[in-house]
Amino acid sequence: MKAPARFVVRGGRRLTGEVEISGAKNAVVAILPAALLCDEPCVIENVPDISDVTISVQILRELGAVVEQLGPHTYRIDPRPVNCTCVPYESARKMRASYYFMGALLGRCGLARVSMPGGCPLGGRPIDQHLKAFRKLGAECKIERGMVDLQAKPLKGNQIFFDVVTVGATMNAILAAVKAEGLTVIGNAAKEPHIVDLASFLNSMGADIIGAGTDTIKIRGVKFLRGTSYPVIPDQIEAGTYMVAAAATKGDVLIKNVTVKHLDSIISVLEKIGVNVEADEEHDQVRVYVDGPLVKASVRTRPHPGFPTDMQPQISTLLCLAAGTSMVKEEVSEQRFQYVDELRRMGADIQVDGKVAVIEGKGVLTGAPVKACDLRAGAALMIAGLAAGGVTYIEDIHHIERGYADMVGKLTALGACISKEAIPVENAQTLPPAVGEV
Ligand code: EPU
Repeated sequence: MKAPARFVVRGGRRLTGEVEISGAKNAVVAILPAALLCDEPCVIENVPDISDVTISVQILRELGAVVEQLGPHTYRIDPRPVNCTCVPYESARKMRASYYFMGALLGRCGLARVSMPGGCPLGGRPIDQHLKAFRKLGAECKIERGMVDLQAKPLKGNQIFFDVVTVGATMNAILAAVKAEGLTVIGNAAKEPHIVDLASFLNSMGADIIGAGTDTIKIRGVKFLRGTSYPVIPDQIEAGTYMVAAAATKGDVLIKNVTVKHLDSIISVLEKIGVNVEADEEHDQVRVYVDGPLVKASVRTRPHPGFPTDMQPQISTLLCLAAGTSMVKEEVSEQRFQYVDELRRMGADIQVDGKVAVIEGKGVLTGAPVKACDLRAGAALMIAGLAAGGVTYIEDIHHIERGYADMVGKLTALGACISKEAIPVENAQTLPPAVGEV
């Protein structure tokens, strides 16, 4: 077994220079399973080098698909030899997005047996809306011993109205409906960029999906999906994370290969905090720099096009470095404030009451040993470490590596002093308690 590793961040250096954003995690984790629906081989480009992709590829291979890596970011998937409809616990538990194999296998084979998903511990994260969509399309759904059993003979288009706005269930409904007989209309659909990307990928194979990116999506089922070559969109949250890292270190960074439109809500909040953002839509890049004081702000997370919950820990970290009392309201995910205890180790003054965090901006943070409790918490701790005086040791970095491609390399190129090293045995399990912990 590999020894567990940690990131060591020596903070206090301004980030300067250029960084290239990778393909979007939350798009590619749906597009890879969606390739199962294709009746010919297809090629997917701009695939990020993250562990969620490694796991998705492994699951595709376990199902019988032939997956070849044609280049560092390009995969060819031939789903024709698929001969298995089961994704067992050992594979599914490693990532939340394994639930997309339910919709994709059901759409392809009319059958799926997929373990309940794993992923970041962000609260209840039910899948009732996913199952509601499958049932509306005519599937029988049972959950037994941790496995979701789905069976359809055959899938038929229908009206699906979601009780909550959900990214995962909207994507799964699209996957199951794309080859179902007749018309499916999804109401109260999520509008995130990765939903549009999934629909564009499927349409490039000959699917008939309109309205992705609005709250009503119409899908007319087709019988055949042809091979395609398709580039994944840039990662909105990775871009936002580097924007905040640039701001937190009072740096000056050009962030390249972004879709500027997807960053509107993040740019708006950064500008409120006193960060300069020069958006260049023509060249798909944004420059972020700070030449004045950072100031308090009120932020609340909302489904797209609102401020993303996946940027909440990062922006809260920035607000620790701003003058004044800020308020952050989390309206999308449960338990998205777990990183607060870790930030307190670094000197942050944050009080959490239910969905609201009140942040007393102190202007400084200090290095400390911390643990990444989930992916975006890990990103926030990286930002805190970059801005802090002294050394920060970040453990449980597998969470970060699930969703950020080569973060050490990209940050080092921007002038950060950061390395990945094996955790010395004597240090394991010896973190001092956080402030306020008994
Ligand atoms: N919900 C239900 N029932 C369902 C599904 C969701 O009640 O069947 C609720 C959830 O409990 C939550 C809300 O609806 O309160 C939104 O959940 P959603 O389904 O949109 O989230 P998800 O599909 O599980 C995706 C991203 C998350 C991101 C959320 C919100 C992927 C693989 N994951 O999760 O990404 O936080 O949407 O935008 O796309 C991350 O990238 O760090 C991450 C956690």
